[in-house]
Amino acid sequence: MRQAMTSVAHGELIRASAWRAAVQRPAPPGGKVAFIGANNPETARMVRDVQVATGVEFIGYFDNDPDKKGRTFCGLPVFGGFDDLLGCDRTAFGLVNLITRDTKTRHETTRFFAENGFAAADFIHPSINLDGVTLGRGVYLQEGVIVQGGVVLGDNVCVNSGATISHETSLGTSCFVAPGATLAGLVTLEPGVLIGAGASVMPRLSLGTGTTVGAGAVITKDTTERSIMVGVPAVETGKTPDDEAFLPLFLDKM
Ligand SMILES: CC(C)(COP(=O)(O)OP(=O)(O)OC[C@H]1O[C@@H](n2cnc3c(N)ncnc32)[C@H](O)[C@@H]1OP(=O)(O)O)[C@@H](O)C(=O)NCCC(=O)NCCS
Repeated sequence: MRQAMTSVAHGELIRASAWRAAVQRPAPPGGKVAFIGANNPETARMVRDVQVATGVEFIGYFDNDPDKKGRTFCGLPVFGGFDDLLGCDRTAFGLVNLITRDTKTRHETTRFFAENGFAAADFIHPSINLDGVTLGRGVYLQEGVIVQGGVVLGDNVCVNSGATISHETSLGTSCFVAPGATLAGLVTLEPGVLIGAGASVMPRLSLGTGTTVGAGAVITKDTTERSIMVGVPAVETGKTPDDEAFLPLFLDKM
């Protein structure tokens, strides 16, 4: 009996949190969302939970793999590739970018579709407590993420299951945090930082634009732009290629 009551109370808490997230976030055009990238079955679980909590309708995928066109992925249709997407009505749905291969690809894909008039939608698991958190547009937060008070998540940020973003930490545009990583308090990530699975960043550090933190690394010092950091304590093992900077997304103008 005690267990049942606890479970009901927890359910109420989840619904209340989801409702808060839903009312504070801009609704996608037409109340509908399509995904970019049909690869990760975790999406299907998120779809069920987010749809119930927010009423947003998820309609299907766009993916450049020609073999996927006309098939279903996790119960939703794959409409076609990016050329097919460009032919669609911009007022009919918003886009959630599921690409997480690297932060540059994720950033450039979101930028391309924003420049072509599409709205970036959120994909946020309803169990996450967002009290005291500032969110940009097009934010993707998986189940079990902890985001503490005073955190700022920029446009196009993605945080995977079980990661913890501690108080007053700030993630710039298109940062990606892999499962189980921990960012301590008052950390600053410049745009395009990738934090590998299970990695940790110690308090008050600042990681330069495009830094890659290897899985399991512990960052104990500030990093410079495009550093690749590996090990415990982490050392710089190289730099990612010096290509075009992370240009602004301007998602808030849509
Ligand atoms: C650090 C990282 C970026 C290096 O990638 P890479 O340049 O392609 O490196 P390689 O795979 O060629 O490995 C190069 C060497 O580093 C070692 N290495 C790779 N990643 C390492 C890590 N995280 N920690 C310690 N050593 C690592 C490899 O064993 C290899 O050693 P060797 O030369 O003695 O054989 C990558 O391995 C990594 O950890 N990425 C994060 C992955 C992740 O968590 N993704 C999230 C998915 S949700």
